[in-house]
Amino acid sequence: MGTETEKHVPRHVAIIMDGNGRWAARHGVERVEGHRKGALAVRQLVENLADTGIEYVTLYAFSTENWKRSKEEVDALMELLCEFIDANLSVMIEKGLRLLATGRIDGLPEKSRDRLKLAIEKTASNTRGTLILALNYGGRAEIVDAARKIASEAAAGTLRPDEIDETLFAKNLYLPEIPDPDLLIRTSGELRLSNFLLWELSYSEIYVTDTLWPDFDKAELEKAIVAYGTRNRRFGGRK
Ligand code: IPE
Ligand code: IPE
Ligand code: MG
Repeated sequence: MGTETEKHVPRHVAIIMDGNGRWAARHGVERVEGHRKGALAVRQLVENLADTGIEYVTLYAFSTENWKRSKEEVDALMELLCEFIDANLSVMIEKGLRLLATGRIDGLPEKSRDRLKLAIEKTASNTRGTLILALNYGGRAEIVDAARKIASEAAAGTLRPDEIDETLFAKNLYLPEIPDPDLLIRTSGELRLSNFLLWELSYSEIYVTDTLWPDFDKAELEKAIVAYGTRNRRFGGRK
């Protein structure tokens, strides 16, 4: 199946973009400047994605827990999301990338939601890669939301409990058509999932780098892809 190189490139990469605040502290600037620099790192990724051979990238941009931050920081992050879309929509179109979102999108401010919806519509027919923004996303929330959908079908009598299996459950997650991530990257050295893609990451390879997200460039992504290429994925079996 495919050439040597194709075999070693992850099809779907999920990224916990962490360390914007530490980047700002290290440079003696406000946290929001770290987020702004982080958005530029996403811009670079958008520009390079089609050349990497990666088909899907899911970026953890705002978690269900991130509402705990100051109103000032939350507002700045929501504003930055709008600015990011405004500044990157034409590049996404030019590069043939499709934009999707995952998370409790209804819980975002109306302005962010509208911008996001427009960009999703305008890129819907693009086929050279898919960029998924996880916004107001929580892994537990996603599982709860799937359970609710399934339970209401069962309550309506259109689904029998014994029909519920892993395949049916996965079909009720936010983006059932997207394959599970092959590789999870977390920047800034933290060794935790922070409620990201709890169902989908079951068998993903994990790569943690001390590099802070705003410094995560093309060379850093290549390092992660090379590391992935050396992994021996067994999925519980023996090879
Ligand atoms: C990641 O950077 C961006 C978001 C969570 C939105 P942080 O803001 O968490 O940066 P640190 O962890 O404080 O360095
Ligand atoms: C995870 O980073 C969420 C995003 C990158 C959006 P956090 O900085 O919020 O995670 P914790 O608090 O270190 O676990
Ligand atoms: Mg953090």
